[in-house]
Amino acid sequence: MNAPSETTPTTMQAAVVHEFGTPLCVDSIDVPSPTGYEALVRVDYTGVCHTDLHAAHGDWPVKPEPPFVPGHEGVGTVVAVGDDVTRIKIGDVVGNAWLWSACGECEWCETGWETLCPFQKNGGYSVDGSFGRYMLVDSRYCPIIPEGADLAAVGPILCAGVTVYKGLKCTDTKPGEWVLISGIGGLGHIAVQYAIAMGRRVAAVDVDDEKLELARHHGAEITVNAASAADPAAELQEATGGGVHGALVTAVNGHAFPQAVGSLRRGGTVVLVGLPPDQFPLDIFSTVLLGLTVRGSIVGTRKDMSEALDFYARGKITPTYSVRKLDDINDVFDEMEHGKIEGRVVMNMAESGA
Ligand SMILES: NC(=O)c1ccc[n+]([C@@H]2O[C@H](COP(=O)([O-])OP(=O)(O)OC[C@H]3O[C@@H](n4cnc5c(N)ncnc54)[C@H](O)[C@@H]3O)[C@@H](O)[C@H]2O)c1
Ligand SMILES: [Zn+2]
Ligand SMILES: [Zn+2]
Repeated sequence: MNAPSETTPTTMQAAVVHEFGTPLCVDSIDVPSPTGYEALVRVDYTGVCHTDLHAAHGDWPVKPEPPFVPGHEGVGTVVAVGDDVTRIKIGDVVGNAWLWSACGECEWCETGWETLCPFQKNGGYSVDGSFGRYMLVDSRYCPIIPEGADLAAVGPILCAGVTVYKGLKCTDTKPGEWVLISGIGGLGHIAVQYAIAMGRRVAAVDVDDEKLELARHHGAEITVNAASAADPAAELQEATGGGVHGALVTAVNGHAFPQAVGSLRRGGTVVLVGLPPDQFPLDIFSTVLLGLTVRGSIVGTRKDMSEALDFYARGKITPTYSVRKLDDINDVFDEMEHGKIEGRVVMNMAESGA
């Protein structure tokens, strides 16, 4: 290993999940040492994704093992590297991601579907993440941040951005066609911007008028408040002259999913990315007769990530975010749970103590 420089401390502040469903503790824990292909990164900023909240609650069937440090939108500088590292070097600016690493050898890795690798590791879930002043990344998989990027603003691209960019590709829509973005939170407000940058026309659904205002600000032509509309799917069918060609559901509420299916045009595709721990009924008759496709999508490959970062670097994507401190993490989760966050929260880790 290229040992951490003398200025790298041996302990750091990190927000740790000790038990599902209880507040995170900001603890002093050991700074890890990189081996093999790993690099140690001093984190400057990290986005807070709703997945981190699901992780802290243990919402999903496959659970992380406490104690763990969440966070998979971290951005910072490489301060030490393991012996096998060649792709990045000390001083480079990199991030972590949900797809922390994959095996590189299975049939999915071989065929450009590393996001489906059964042997993948996940940042802030099976490997400690970016809610600490330092984090490990796998140098073969970590996103490389474009030169000159604003380190706070680029964080949300690393999960929200790549996920919605890949999800939009999976709608199989073409430029000029309608795409529904359901849920205008961290993912959704960025999805509106990628959709516009990709030449789609955007309809947006949320349960909060301020979120819909944000969607209009980013280019949505149609907005529907699912909490007050009598029949959101019928409104969307009417406003788009026969339904949306594609839909991307980022909402954290099971009701949004059948609504999105009901908004589709004949032959349309709905892509599910939101992960509420719910089920929803799928009407067999209309799915068959209208030739609908229902598809799941999980983050993106390294190639999707570099494409998503390139849209950002060219000024096409401007995340809306507010900056907070690590000590605020439990308040941030509370606000997220109640739908009170506009865009994304990004934590300033440099101000959170080392
Ligand atoms: N598939 C993936 O690769 C992937 C990647 C990242 C996040 N996620 C998941 O996506 C979801 C969204 O994450 P986020 O960080 O954007 O969350 P967020 O909390 O920032 O946003 C959720 C949005 O859903 C809205 N909403 C709630 N009920 C709704 C309804 N009935 N109809 C429409 N909108 C509704 C909320 O008002 C909010 O704007 C989470 O479940 C997260 O785990 C999936
Ligand atoms: Zn995420
Ligand atoms: Zn694999």
